[in-house]
Amino acid sequence: MFPKKLQQKLEERKANNALRQLGTQNNLTDFSSNDYLGFSKSKTIFNNTHAFLTEQNITYNGATGSRLLSGNHPLYNIVESLLSSFHNSESALIYNSGYNANVGIFSCVPQRGDIILYDEYIHASIRDGIKLSHAKAYKFKHNHLEDLECHLARPPAGRSGSQEVSQKNNIYVVTESVFSMDGDSPDLITMSQICKTHNAYLIVDEAHAVGIFGEHGAGLVQHLKLEKDVFARIVTFGKAMGSHGAAILGSDSLKQYLVNFSRSFIYTTALTPHTLANIHTAYHELILTENIKKLHKNIAHFKGEVIKNGLQNYFIASDSAIHCCIISGNDTVKLMSQKFQEQGFNIKPILSPTVPKEHERLRFCLHALHSKEDISKVLKGLTTFVTKSY
Ligand SMILES: Cc1ncc(COP(=O)(O)O)c(C=O)c1O
Repeated sequence: MFPKKLQQKLEERKANNALRQLGTQNNLTDFSSNDYLGFSKSKTIFNNTHAFLTEQNITYNGATGSRLLSGNHPLYNIVESLLSSFHNSESALIYNSGYNANVGIFSCVPQRGDIILYDEYIHASIRDGIKLSHAKAYKFKHNHLEDLECHLARPPAGRSGSQEVSQKNNIYVVTESVFSMDGDSPDLITMSQICKTHNAYLIVDEAHAVGIFGEHGAGLVQHLKLEKDVFARIVTFGKAMGSHGAAILGSDSLKQYLVNFSRSFIYTTALTPHTLANIHTAYHELILTENIKKLHKNIAHFKGEVIKNGLQNYFIASDSAIHCCIISGNDTVKLMSQKFQEQGFNIKPILSPTVPKEHERLRFCLHALHSKEDISKVLKGLTTFVTKSY
């Protein structure tokens, strides 16, 4: 017994060749995961995590409850202090994941009468948070500062369906420092100046910038010295940090507010001590590792090979670890991904509706531990595939 309406939705997905399915792990060369620095498989981090737990005399497994009840074990303070000092922020508040952090902040910070302006390509977790908020939300064109300015300059009364917006109401602008499905970045310096001019609060999701940009991979906001100009940053630990969880970086007042009003923070069991020890160890490894440099060398090599193979018109310009080759159509992009699998490479097709129709793509996630040969081989393969018409 399964509701007909739901079955129809599944059938629709199948008809569009867009049905999502859980895969199995494989031994293909990984151009698909977010393990940019190889931390998820690092033996050093694994062993140091265990050593840290022993050193802290922690011999239990679970947090036992929400942080506001029984779950606020001592590692939380240790790791939040480390995060605020490493990321040069007054405070840090750990969430169970980036998804939870985004839902948590956007659902409770913007109030009724406030306005949220978000980049049209913003991550689903931010969209979901916005949906739960009582503020009005408007999208601006991707990385398009003039469009953002037009929205900021527009009188509230001119917005269709808007309530009376008084001086007391706030405007929040939200973007990602590296876009997850495009790999590109906004001009954060100008964006922060625009926000300042319009008294808007800027929130930046740094999920794909931590571990990649800035000194010791501290993120793009820190690289550009914008810590004081940003209202909140979201950093996540499931990508370059190779672990799990996230934190919101901001003022002490923001932290206090979130602890009181952020439902995805309050109504959930806290992270295990092991996860926090793992995050702690991964941050220490960030300071020591040579892998950030290796990753940037691989990014430069990839970009060089794209040009050498005459593929630049297929790619979205990016300096990050994410490089996307636009190939229109779910069928074609899936077929190409399959061809890569046959050659030993795991490269994920990004299908519509995750990205707009006709902007389907192959997403290459570059890692520090890729060999130059693998990168060259993969782009040679791509050249053959794009010149054939599938
Ligand atoms: C930009 C961005 N923000 C947030 C998230 C969610 O982070 P997490 O995987 O920790 O839930 C992701 C993950 O896909 C992301 O790409």
